[in-house]
Amino acid sequence: MPTYDLADRSALVTGAGSGIGRAVALELARNGAAVLVADLSADAAQRVTDEITAAGGTAAAAVADVADPAVHAELVAAAGRMGPLKVAVNNAGIGGEAAAVADCSTEGWLRVVDVNLNAVFHGLKAQIPAMVAAGGGAIVNMASVLGSVGIAQSSAYVATKHAVVGLTKTAALEYSAQGVRVNAVGPGFISTPLVERSLDAATLDALAAQHATGRLGTSEEVAALTAFLVSDAASFVTGSYHLVDGGYSAH
Ligand code: NAI
Repeated sequence: MPTYDLADRSALVTGAGSGIGRAVALELARNGAAVLVADLSADAAQRVTDEITAAGGTAAAAVADVADPAVHAELVAAAGRMGPLKVAVNNAGIGGEAAAVADCSTEGWLRVVDVNLNAVFHGLKAQIPAMVAAGGGAIVNMASVLGSVGIAQSSAYVATKHAVVGLTKTAALEYSAQGVRVNAVGPGFISTPLVERSLDAATLDALAAQHATGRLGTSEEVAALTAFLVSDAASFVTGSYHLVDGGYSAH
């Protein structure tokens, strides 16, 4: 695995208690960042924090519902206590109801919009001024390959992930001159609790076959791209949407 120099900075990762967020938190810590492990689940956040510190890294746990606009200033402040905030990964997300659009409940739709989209907006509002004050930084918003193509029975998820891509591009245009890069990552289907919880074995096999690789991805494969994007090695990369989808969208 490549190593980037993320020393002397803090990194805020939301939804870091599980799956992709956990792998991102571990990878950023391995590259030297002091990581704020934020999650809805206190146990999960603490477990990942313990994993990082056991491996010799620096981390602290934070319990937060990213759908609450007020928590983002607290997360930025907590990360700032570990070092200048120069990295944020807005990763927390939920799948939502499996239903055709006319059958989706309004409550279900609004919760997905709150967690997958509004939370990224609230996060950027808190993170960007802190990064500007720290002399610059890099943000990754976790979209999905479903930020560029649709899939049946997931309208809220697909709509929010497309919106995250647009929000990412706009924020990048607005803050590039102040040294803040903003990119989106679009994973294909990745073996995480989110996917394994909601899909049966036959559906997982069928999905695997839709990737050129013939398999689902791993959280570590998404973390590798994310670590590159937030590192100085990606200094000319901003405002773009980076797929890590095993060829899912190539056909
Ligand atoms: P996961 O369910 O394994 O982990 C998500 C974590 O986020 C959990 O620890 C959960 O407690 C936390 N979380 C959920 N709602 C939260 C909230 N309101 N506030 C704070 N934390 C919250 O999910 P996974 O698969 O790791 O997904 C992470 C991100 O990657 C999501 O944005 C998801 O949409 C995206 N993604 C996942 C793909 C996959 O195939 N697993 C594919 C493409 C994108």
